[in-house]
Amino acid sequence: MNILAIESSCDETACAIVQNGVLEIASIVASSKELHEATGGIVPEIAARKQIEFIIPVIEQTLLKSSLSSDQIDAVAVTVGPGLIGSLLVGVEAAKALAFAWNKPLIPVNHLVGHIYANFIKRDSKDNIPAQPGVDAIKFPVVVLIISGGHTDLVLMRGHGELTYIGGTLDDAAGEAYDKTARLLGLAQYLGGAQLSKLAATCTNNLAKGTLPRPMLDQNNFDFSFSGLKTAVKNLIATQTYPADAVALEFENAVGDVIVSKTIKAAQKFGCTQILMGGGVSANKYLRDRLTKEAAAKDIKVFVPALDLCTDNAIYIASAAFFNNNPKELSEINANPSLGVMDPV
Ligand code: KG4
Ligand code: ZN
Repeated sequence: MNILAIESSCDETACAIVQNGVLEIASIVASSKELHEATGGIVPEIAARKQIEFIIPVIEQTLLKSSLSSDQIDAVAVTVGPGLIGSLLVGVEAAKALAFAWNKPLIPVNHLVGHIYANFIKRDSKDNIPAQPGVDAIKFPVVVLIISGGHTDLVLMRGHGELTYIGGTLDDAAGEAYDKTARLLGLAQYLGGAQLSKLAATCTNNLAKGTLPRPMLDQNNFDFSFSGLKTAVKNLIATQTYPADAVALEFENAVGDVIVSKTIKAAQKFGCTQILMGGGVSANKYLRDRLTKEAAAKDIKVFVPALDLCTDNAIYIASAAFFNNNPKELSEINANPSLGVMDPV
């Protein structure tokens, strides 16, 4: 089954065609990120206008790249939230139009569920990039750590469609904390998380060690809080005592201490031998490596998506749509498109 998926929840406009939920046939991502760098944060109206500009060329290029005709597409999937309403609407309307014109079922997908499915994509090793076994290696139940610009969630996944929220951030998301700290350090006005991490990696002597709090680390729950940490970084920078690389490393260690400890505890509590990471921040090398190593010491295997599958794209939206829809239901909708949109997965 070939699913064409559209993702437009924020400042990326993405389309992909994926076979049987695991095999990427074509994928295109356009972004208006540069425009938001100028304003130091996303302006939703500008993001939505760029979505309108990009959406048709992105779909056309994806189809062209796939060499498939619309007859060979079995369903259309689309992100329905969470996200910026103006941006989401562009993708949803485009998907509805395609599903109607092609007479195909339309599958709504939750963006965060989508992030999880980056782990289910199968890839052979290529250009020294390791293979991703994807669906074949994942054994339920698993604990999922979703760390993105807008969310930090721990989820127990007992199977496809069997997701239980077990904890998450009470205020800022991990990505938001990374980005705001990067801004405080003067590294980037917008989405500076990766730059902060690069700076931290250059630090050979952490002079700022122990100067930042580890919020909620000792609490017996699976929740997080990062807004106080950001304020503590602000106060630390104001003292002008420590070099920027040490502050960056201390921040990354503080985030890592809390996230790694609680994620492993969650896997142990729910008897899971596997952890899946997802979301833009799962591209962070320090967090990937540290969680993988510390979990391995407790016989827990960590899955991290290929780097290009961490940040927003439509490949994982197609995968989530495939694994969360009952083929019988799909064939019924195929036979009778007026049945309309199914419940979001
Ligand atoms: O999942 P995503 O692409 O968009 C949302 O759904 O939010 O995540 C974007 C977030 C941003 O906060 C970005 O700075 C962060 O992921 N990010 C990173 C890294 N790469 C992306 N944060 C830390 N280290 C990275 N290497
Ligand atoms: Zn995302």
